[in-house]
Amino acid sequence: MTTGTLGGEFTFPATSLTVQRIGYGAMQLAGPGVWGPPKDPDAAVAILREATAAGVNHIDTADYYGPHVTNQIIRRALYPYPADLVIVTKLGGRRPPDRSWQPANSPQELTAGVHDNLHNLGLETLDIVNYRVMGSGNGPEEGSITEQVRVLAELRREGLIRHIGLSNVTPAQVAEAQSITEIVCVQNNYNLAYRHDDALIDDLARQGIAYVPFFPLGGFTPLHSSTLSFLAGRIGTTAMQVALAWLLRRSPNILLIPGTSSVAHLRENLAAGQLTLSPQTLAELDGIAATESV
Ligand SMILES: NC(=O)c1ccc[n+]([C@@H]2O[C@H](COP(=O)([O-])OP(=O)(O)OC[C@H]3O[C@@H](n4cnc5c(N)ncnc54)[C@H](OP(=O)(O)O)[C@@H]3O)[C@@H](O)[C@H]2O)c1
Repeated sequence: MTTGTLGGEFTFPATSLTVQRIGYGAMQLAGPGVWGPPKDPDAAVAILREATAAGVNHIDTADYYGPHVTNQIIRRALYPYPADLVIVTKLGGRRPPDRSWQPANSPQELTAGVHDNLHNLGLETLDIVNYRVMGSGNGPEEGSITEQVRVLAELRREGLIRHIGLSNVTPAQVAEAQSITEIVCVQNNYNLAYRHDDALIDDLARQGIAYVPFFPLGGFTPLHSSTLSFLAGRIGTTAMQVALAWLLRRSPNILLIPGTSSVAHLRENLAAGQLTLSPQTLAELDGIAATESV
């Protein structure tokens, strides 16, 4: 791993896929509630083009965002895709007309999900597919995932998927999946204030596997902490930049996919790669999860 303006590079284990550590999460490009088209589709296209022009080459998506909308915007904005772009998508969920988030984890649903992603992204092979366990919402729940991981491994053998990852999983589920196939990344809920995966991150780092926090800025409930605001003011930057810079320093296998529907926020988030945090500031940030309810 090297340093650079977007946090340096990371290569997914045993792959030829190398990305900048600051990427982009596309969920915010759909309409409100991750449903339907955005108010301004041209603005959504502009965000993706600005991100890739700035060097972002890791985009996170799902065909059930919208549904279909996010992938269609990615295709409109970036197709034909730059050779170094890694699009990571996920399977395991669906959005019925009541706009809820439901599991879609039967072999038939997973296979159909791969084909939906291929069709809407305009690809013949998906770079990385995460199996997203619906669990108890945005936190994992124990339970076997062997059937689903075997389906993904078979789709990989068929050439429709290059590499496999997991999302919203427990350490036991990671180990279970690794007994079936190689896992290149894990995407779980984690940020400065929500640090349930500290041990898992360190374990994956030892194996060279990427840990990609979803809700790096707090997601639907933006991070808010008086310590964070105070420290950002002391450094002369924004709280969100400090939160992202802290994640980059937390572990070298952490890749960022902050989501935004605003070009100004995108620029701010990408600039977090250039922020240096002193040991004192890092220690104060480390204390946030233990001492504050955010
Ligand atoms: N695997 C999973 O189950 C799962 C679940 C959720 C998300 N994800 C992925 O993770 C990505 C990141 O998660 P997320 O987008 O939900 O949450 P997030 O990145 O933690 O936060 C996004 C929210 O923060 C705001 N924001 C972004 N940059 C900001 C800035 N510089 N200053 C102030 N506000 C800012 C955005 O609003 P604006 O639009 O106004 O900037 C949006 O409301 C998603 O895009 C998606 O690809 C995966």
